Amino acid sequence: MKIQIVYFSGTGNTMAVANAYGKQLERLGHDVKIDTIEGKQSIEPHDFLIVGGPIYAGNMPHELIQWVRRHVPKSNGPKKAIVFSTSAVLGNAHGVKSIAKKLIKKGYEITDAACFEMPRNFYIDRYDPTSEADQIRQFNQAAEMIVQSIQTIGNEATYNVTKSVLMIDMLADIFAIMAKSMGKKFEIDETCIQCGICEKNCPKQNITVATKTYHNRCILCTRCIHNCPVAAISYKGKKIEPYRVPYEIKI
Ligand SMILES: Cc1cc2nc3c(=O)[nH]c(=O)nc-3n(C[C@H](O)[C@H](O)[C@H](O)COP(=O)(O)O)c2cc1C
Repeated sequence: MKIQIVYFSGTGNTMAVANAYGKQLERLGHDVKIDTIEGKQSIEPHDFLIVGGPIYAGNMPHELIQWVRRHVPKSNGPKKAIVFSTSAVLGNAHGVKSIAKKLIKKGYEITDAACFEMPRNFYIDRYDPTSEADQIRQFNQAAEMIVQSIQTIGNEATYNVTKSVLMIDMLADIFAIMAKSMGKKFEIDETCIQCGICEKNCPKQNITVATKTYHNRCILCTRCIHNCPVAAISYKGKKIEPYRVPYEIKI
């Protein structure tokens, strides 16, 4: 089966899950293509689609929602999909519903909506880093969840979204607007070695290292902070310890 995986990942958690899905599907003999939505304007023909993203303020990032709206074509026959999210907690991981609903409208049937709890790395405001024991538990659990999720591919699709997702989509729109000004609170300090990694990797081309400037296109993904080799980026004057995805999801 030709399986297309598309995702957005700011700091690597979603990418780790997407890659683990891909690896396992390849092991099972599928023809798998994995792409980030960054710079991707179209989607290749596929038999099965998997869409994943992080949870930002209860929904998927505005960028991913818009990408699905614009770039996933209407299916011209019954097609199936899996949606998944990664987040610090599961209590407000509603983003899978939003993406699932868009895919259902495009003619897809959803076989699974999986919410992965991953190590916290959005501790600029609210969360403390996850303990090592919890991280190990999360990665083991992710491996089990992926196996179960993949098993649904051959099943009849049972996941449905009956309620409106208008409110959570509005929140994603509002959050995207807030992020632009919140993003102005990042600062690059004098320890910066001008390596340009933040500028090169920013999904919105929002950073100019030479002038240490954040423009107004930030989506708050925090990739800049976590990829900085010298931890030169602070938020609201607070230094943040860079996060790297700590383990591989081994199946
Ligand atoms: C701007 C922002 C908002 C977030 N909001 C939430 C949230 O509402 N609930 C939650 O559980 N995690 C939240 N998180 C944590 C991310 O969902 C989590 O770290 C995710 O795994 C990041 O995925 P990525 O590494 O693929 O970018 C937030 C992270 C960011 C950067």
